[in-house]
Amino acid sequence: MSKAFSIRVQQSGAEYSCADDDTVLRSGLRAGVGLSYECNVGSCGTCKFELIEGEVHNLWEEAPGLNPRDRQRGRMLGCQCVPLGDCLIKPMIIDDSFVPTDRPRRFSGELIAVRDLTHDIREFTVKDSQAAGFRPGQYALLYLPGVAGPRAYSMSNIRNAQGLWDFIIRKVPNGAGSGALFDLQVGEQVQVDGPYGLAYLRTEVKRTVVCIGGGSGLAPMLSIARGMVADSTMDGVKLKFFYGARGPRDLCGEAELKALAGFGDRIEFLPALSDAAEATAGGWTGDVGFIHEQVKARIPTDQLQECEFYTCGPPVMINAVMQMLGGELKVLPDRIHYDSFV
Ligand SMILES: Cc1cc2nc3c(=O)[nH]c(=O)nc-3n(C[C@H](O)[C@H](O)[C@H](O)COP(=O)(O)OP(=O)(O)OC[C@H]3O[C@@H](n4cnc5c(N)ncnc54)[C@H](O)[C@@H]3O)c2cc1C
Ligand code: FES
Repeated sequence: MSKAFSIRVQQSGAEYSCADDDTVLRSGLRAGVGLSYECNVGSCGTCKFELIEGEVHNLWEEAPGLNPRDRQRGRMLGCQCVPLGDCLIKPMIIDDSFVPTDRPRRFSGELIAVRDLTHDIREFTVKDSQAAGFRPGQYALLYLPGVAGPRAYSMSNIRNAQGLWDFIIRKVPNGAGSGALFDLQVGEQVQVDGPYGLAYLRTEVKRTVVCIGGGSGLAPMLSIARGMVADSTMDGVKLKFFYGARGPRDLCGEAELKALAGFGDRIEFLPALSDAAEATAGGWTGDVGFIHEQVKARIPTDQLQECEFYTCGPPVMINAVMQMLGGELKVLPDRIHYDSFV
């Protein structure tokens, strides 16, 4: 039977209960405590803490989110540590912006449908017995058979009473998690934990929305687009949806966007292919180049500074987008929301 321990936060005095099979970070978020994080899978280091009292088990000793200096100082990752008794912790950052609006929960759902979008990108629909509560742009953790540690995948749909959680996932060559997912059969159970993530749609902001997605980064961008259309307070807010793929066979997303009210008017789909040779060979007549360059080419600089940005995709793409928006164009940091698919 699972036991629970008490975790106390030194700076705020907040106290919460953590099951012995849950992590210090995720149990805190489940309890509504604002602990900082981003990836949830050991890569970014945003969830670092110092253990002041107590003992924990580290699920992934080599996690890249800690550097040698962190290790020397005894810092740990909240998303990788499970308590072995009551603990007193000192997180690096305490901030109310991390308090979740939909508290994450763990459930077992049934894989009820799969659909191929390209040769290596597939949509998976998991059904839970309860309503699905999450904000557009958030992600969940999937625990997969035979795979060490969970993998993060963004939802492509929006909250719904039917309990549906849709994911769009690219099969990574030799990838353990995505490979296990592509082996799953309809009817099998999937362990889900969510929602998580801060790159969600800010419905209170009425600036033109610019979505920049690459490859498997389609899922959260579609969720943002669907969230905008479903929220009447965002009526009239424009959406420029940039999507970057390598060649013609990697392109997807247009059909899903076309199904949204306002497509071609308020909603613009702006795809670009990065591989010029593949684009020409495939008879592509649209834009060619990296997707962040298309954003700059298509929107005048003074307008770019007045937009709200959402971007998700491989780290190399996110770095290029951040460099351009934050570094070169001086877009204010609180107007850029991103998840790097580490
Ligand atoms: C916030 C977020 C959202 C994402 N959304 C999507 C999405 O919508 N669609 C999509 O296709 N991809 C998404 N990804 C990427 C996805 O999570 C996986 O990294 C990708 O599918 C490759 O995983 P893999 O297991 O196939 O490859 P692998 O190379 O086997 O594993 C890659 C990742 O697994 C983690 N990992 C490896 N070993 C361990 C271990 N021992 N313990 C714990 N973790 C370990 C690391 O984070 C590593 O980067 C997202 C990533 C993040 C962080
Ligand atoms: S949230 Fe723990 S390393 Fe990213």
